[in-house]
Amino acid sequence: MICDTSSLETMLDYIRWGASCFATQGLYFGHGTDNALDESVALVLHALKLRHDLPHMYLQSRLTKAEREAIEALFKRRIMERVPAPYLTNQVMFAGYSFKVDDRALVPRSPIAELIEKRFQPWIQPQPEKVTRILDMCTGSGCIGIACAHMFPNATVDLVDISPQALELAWENITQHGLENRVHKIKSDLFKAVDKNRYDIIISNPPYVSTGEMQVLPKEYQHEPSLGLEAGSDGLDIVVPLLRLAPPYLKPDGIMVVEVGLSADALQERYPQVPFLWLDFERGGEGVLLLTAAQLSQYQLFFREDG
Ligand SMILES: C[S@@+](CC[C@H](N)C(=O)[O-])C[C@H]1O[C@@H](n2cnc3c(N)ncnc32)[C@H](O)[C@@H]1O
Repeated sequence: MICDTSSLETMLDYIRWGASCFATQGLYFGHGTDNALDESVALVLHALKLRHDLPHMYLQSRLTKAEREAIEALFKRRIMERVPAPYLTNQVMFAGYSFKVDDRALVPRSPIAELIEKRFQPWIQPQPEKVTRILDMCTGSGCIGIACAHMFPNATVDLVDISPQALELAWENITQHGLENRVHKIKSDLFKAVDKNRYDIIISNPPYVSTGEMQVLPKEYQHEPSLGLEAGSDGLDIVVPLLRLAPPYLKPDGIMVVEVGLSADALQERYPQVPFLWLDFERGGEGVLLLTAAQLSQYQLFFREDG
């Protein structure tokens, strides 16, 4: 191990030590947590198979040799291999729900979670009960679509991805959430294999990292499937076809929400005529656009000319 652990005895010792080690080793935090202490807590609790609501008095418990070794093994992988913490615990919280996660799909972390928790208010009117069809395009682990299914109990939700591995994981999450009856997975290259359903909401966190950005991403991202990240020279290789192809799949009063991250400037520069609404998030995050079905139809001309 990188540091001397011989004087550590309790859970608290390990949590504190892990946080200090992570902070000094230049790790990147951005896969479900944003700081060293939260990651240390998550890994220690996972190694000991304890819940996050563990009463604080137990933090003083002394650990067995096997327990110390289990914690150190996880810390070692986090530090030496730069594996994102959720790939070590195989669990992540998104929009208040627990999801299984592994390297078949990206670690869920989209700011769109906040929008889902608010049931897309004020953009979806008047009642959530009226929402009957939702499409989560580029679903990965299924987190966005499954969280939507919880928030819109009358909705059928389609989860689309081109990756069979991601869809396997999405299916495991669908069954873990007991939503087999109204959440379906579809293997498709964007809309190619999607029936011409009319959706109330199309939501997508597609790949949007430009080739240049890919070169400078922290090492943690190398553990994620590049299919979920990389999207050409300006990061718009998937986003633009999505905007072009979406109109026939939306109800007349439907909305489309797409995360484009740091490629927002490139998109806005390419289509200065299109009034993208860039959403604000209380918990942070940016680069998420919203267009109504009417706007998408009105500005199709620009997306068509482009492609
Ligand atoms: C950024 S990840 C998002 C995963 C998930 N929505 C989330 O927020 O955690 C993008 C996903 O898009 C999928 N993808 C890439 N190209 C695609 C395409 N042409 N059609 C459908 N899915 C695609 C990838 O397999 C990956 O799972």
